[in-house]
Amino acid sequence: MNHNKMPDLWIDTEDTETNELQEVEINLLLEGLYQMFGYDFRGYVRASLRRRILNRMKAERLPTITALLEKVLHEKGYLERLLNDLSIRMTEMYRDPSFFAAFRSRVVPLLRDLPEIRIWHAGCATGEEVYSMAILMMEEGLAKKTKIYATDMNEKALIAAQKGAFPLKKMQQYTKNYLKAGGKMAFSEYYTTDHQFAYFNPMFEENLFFAQHNLVTDGSFNEFHVILCRNVMIYFDNELQQQVHHLIHSSLADGGFVGFGSKESLLFVPKSLKYEEFSPQEKIYRKI
Ligand SMILES: C[S@@+](CC[C@H](N)C(=O)[O-])C[C@H]1O[C@@H](n2cnc3c(N)ncnc32)[C@H](O)[C@@H]1O
Repeated sequence: MNHNKMPDLWIDTEDTETNELQEVEINLLLEGLYQMFGYDFRGYVRASLRRRILNRMKAERLPTITALLEKVLHEKGYLERLLNDLSIRMTEMYRDPSFFAAFRSRVVPLLRDLPEIRIWHAGCATGEEVYSMAILMMEEGLAKKTKIYATDMNEKALIAAQKGAFPLKKMQQYTKNYLKAGGKMAFSEYYTTDHQFAYFNPMFEENLFFAQHNLVTDGSFNEFHVILCRNVMIYFDNELQQQVHHLIHSSLADGGFVGFGSKESLLFVPKSLKYEEFSPQEKIYRKI
């Protein structure tokens, strides 16, 4: 081929071939992760997965995705690194403060009379959302009867969540969020510090239960009055979102509440799953 004559076409063809080959390799990698370790990323949004896989490949100075698969299958430590790349753990305390303000003013009054309140944080990452909720329920005088179940597929994130230790330098931002979310105390009442971290755990140990749970491959494990699954399904394709919506809906008690992330919608909720738009602006819905 004369590259000087048709440079664009040549480059396009090569790119298309590389992309096709990489797609095949990504499929094999995802299949390997699933069959060997039970982690199922096959229904995750492809563009974002692809970017992360390629980044890991480059960071490890590997020539191909197949070489990455080889490492993941045969060398210790690679799986964990890749899992960390594939699960995006960005979170913060009282993320979207108006969500927590609406939860406090509108949802909490409807939970008050329950003998026990069970809350599930599905995809809790490193736990910032979980401690935010525990503090809120404590301030509403409901701590004693509230049980908070916090799950994530990422074991490393869960270990961090259990510790409840968050960087001290973030506390200024988190205090602002807490106040915007309707916080009633001095936020510093809730944690102790050393030179690096703020520690939230001791106060809430009795209410919190952490466990590894994969929304794609694991089933329902209790009936909840509240489920927060925020900023998790944005990484799932339409079909997988539908599947996980079934799991969430079937894990909610009648009249229970579900909260999604600010950029998420009910677009892919199957029609058979009925929700009332309780506070659509804050992405809070109620099972009918
Ligand atoms: C961006 S964080 C959201 C954390 C928190 N819910 C929030 O909104 O701040 C997404 C979390 O979902 C978890 N996740 C992704 N896929 C999952 C799955 N299939 N099952 C359980 N957790 C999953 C990731 O490990 C990550 O910790």
